[in-house]
Amino acid sequence: MTVSGNSMIRFPDHFFWGTATSAYQVEGGNDEWSDWGDWPAHAGKGCNFWNKYEYYLDLAAQLGTNAFRFSIEWARVEPERDRWNREALERYRLIIRACHARGIEPVVTLSHFTLPKWVAKTGGWSNPETVSRFIIYVAKIQKTLGAEIRYWITLNEPSVLISHGYLTGVWPPGKKLAVLEAIAARSNLVEAHRRAYRLIKLNQKAKVGAALNIAYHEPHRKDHLGDRLVTWVFQSAGDYGFLGAIRNSLDFIGLNYYFHNRLKFIWNPLHRFFQDTNENKLISDLGWEIHPEGIKPLVLELARRFKKPIFVTENGVADTRDSMRPKEIHDTLTSLGETIIEGASVIGYLHWSLMDNFEWACGFDAHFGLYAMDYTQMVAIPRQSTELYRAIIKNNSPSASILQSALSASSH
Ligand code: BGC
Repeated sequence: MTVSGNSMIRFPDHFFWGTATSAYQVEGGNDEWSDWGDWPAHAGKGCNFWNKYEYYLDLAAQLGTNAFRFSIEWARVEPERDRWNREALERYRLIIRACHARGIEPVVTLSHFTLPKWVAKTGGWSNPETVSRFIIYVAKIQKTLGAEIRYWITLNEPSVLISHGYLTGVWPPGKKLAVLEAIAARSNLVEAHRRAYRLIKLNQKAKVGAALNIAYHEPHRKDHLGDRLVTWVFQSAGDYGFLGAIRNSLDFIGLNYYFHNRLKFIWNPLHRFFQDTNENKLISDLGWEIHPEGIKPLVLELARRFKKPIFVTENGVADTRDSMRPKEIHDTLTSLGETIIEGASVIGYLHWSLMDNFEWACGFDAHFGLYAMDYTQMVAIPRQSTELYRAIIKNNSPSASILQSALSASSH
């Protein structure tokens, strides 16, 4: 395989290189209080991060990373209304301190898809009362842990939560085509973000953003009105539209980049007037097209439109054999580096994920980790990509020779 690169790329000096996780997916032990605990696929022991966080943070440090994204499980710290679990809060303090001790910036997400059962029972995000309850929880976290947190992420991928929870029903609360509830959930999530942002900023000088799943949508034919209209509809319906609603309450845009769609208008209501014309040259284990170059036009467009720094808070690929991941990382970082050359302000890149973990409705079958998990021993085994990522971080640039040596090492 021949690989090409861009030798001009050099990431900024204080760039955040890191990995990302979420509480429910890795901690283990959350099923009793979290809404996912009653769902057919649930995380059980996860990766036992709750007890082995030092072990995993050592791995993160060995990669040379200087940022680590994790989330706080609301259900764990407030298992029942107004009952706070002090021990859990103290454990999160230890996790934050363990990051700092390793020179790793903790990037803390307040809500990564899950809800406490008691909140879910009262209607979850479609109930406006959840917003007030969320703000009480955010205030508690800030009061107890805030002094040691400089980067906050309020919500993770609200539009994904809404569509899986209220439209397709594949995630809790499992509602199908509950359009009115989906609309209510969206406006409550917008409100939750805005209020959390205001609250945190009132009390400390921190950076606050949201992590949004923003696909790169492009029209199949650049000058075709119908294709452009379908593209616009897709963009506005997802997290891109959500971003528009919260743009005045954001210090950075958290970009989770996984998807690309090339959209063609067709005169056929049975096909909802569009067709996806992705080339699908490379497909992950989950059947998602791998399209690293899409991050470049997407970041440039986000930077132009919203004029905010961009923090890539997730990017990765389900690839058990690790046969596509090294090139995916290299090519994504090449495209991302090019956006910096073209003037975009990009402050970090967090790879999803440090290790394999619980992949929601897919259970433990999808493998996004730089490290593979042996769940019986609860140990993480390095994939080839760990070497590549470490070399890129060390070099502060994704050079072609780094990828070439990773690929030739894996073919031996
Ligand atoms: C989510 C993660 C998830 C990953 C891979 C993102 O949408 O934030 O929780 O595991 O994608 O599907």
